[in-house]
Amino acid sequence: MSNKSLKYFFGRAKKEKWAIGQFNFSTLEQLKAIVSAAKKLKSPVILGTSQGEANFFGLEEATLLRDLYRKKFPYIYLNLDHGKDIDLIKKAIDLGYDCVHFDGSGLDFQENLKITKKIVKYAHKKGCLVEGEIKSIQGSSEIHKELPKEVLLEDIEKAKEFVKKTGIDSLAVNIGNLHGVYTKSIRLKIDHLQKIKKAIPIFLVLHGGSGTSKKDIKETIKNGVVKINVNTELRIAWRETLEKILRKHRGTVKPYNILPKVISAIEKVVTTKINLFNP
Ligand code: G3H
Ligand code: ZN
Repeated sequence: MSNKSLKYFFGRAKKEKWAIGQFNFSTLEQLKAIVSAAKKLKSPVILGTSQGEANFFGLEEATLLRDLYRKKFPYIYLNLDHGKDIDLIKKAIDLGYDCVHFDGSGLDFQENLKITKKIVKYAHKKGCLVEGEIKSIQGSSEIHKELPKEVLLEDIEKAKEFVKKTGIDSLAVNIGNLHGVYTKSIRLKIDHLQKIKKAIPIFLVLHGGSGTSKKDIKETIKNGVVKINVNTELRIAWRETLEKILRKHRGTVKPYNILPKVISAIEKVVTTKINLFNP
């Protein structure tokens, strides 16, 4: 077990103005790459599993491997990302996830508030943090051609009420951020983040870390973001490297001759992000 909690690092990050990266994984190669980068840089890191990723990899496998890797580097944490299935969320909490993100953004505001509050009660009893989401963060962790038609911004009054009544530890904010990588670049609404920061005392989380400019990332950290989620860029490195090597070595059937290069490519992405978030 790690002797410093995730909450401890969130608190330090807020005070010292840096952010912890959450990197999603669904394969052992991705997991090895994330852990290796964190260990080399001596930086705390969050391993993220979305519902799809958790169902594929296994919640139990994820917690067991987190515990195993913690023996080599202690500051490795697990978050259930965009959890919508209450049973899966409870299972993750029971297994010892450090944090769960309940994504009730598809629900009516009052319903989201009610369920989030119940999850907070359940999670806090077991020392697990809870991240909330009010307005859905658009897009998905893939490559997209078209940008969404409208930019969604957090409703500050609703967010204040939600935070106060649910007791969540962190909030996934909407400041024009999108999931995935787009052919056109987007700019984040930093002025809106400043308003959120002023109104809300809890930890702020930026989703959609892929494809966001270094300048915008730096600005979000300066203005209170303590956790940044990255997925698509890791997935792209995984696919492109795997395709390239398989094409180059058509005859080979030995995974251990192919996969180290995939791990290195993903590790490079994670290293660049950690250096940006936590210089
Ligand atoms: O919850 C996961 C993240 O928000 C990932 O976003 O795929 O744009 O990096 P991304
Ligand atoms: Zn997300």
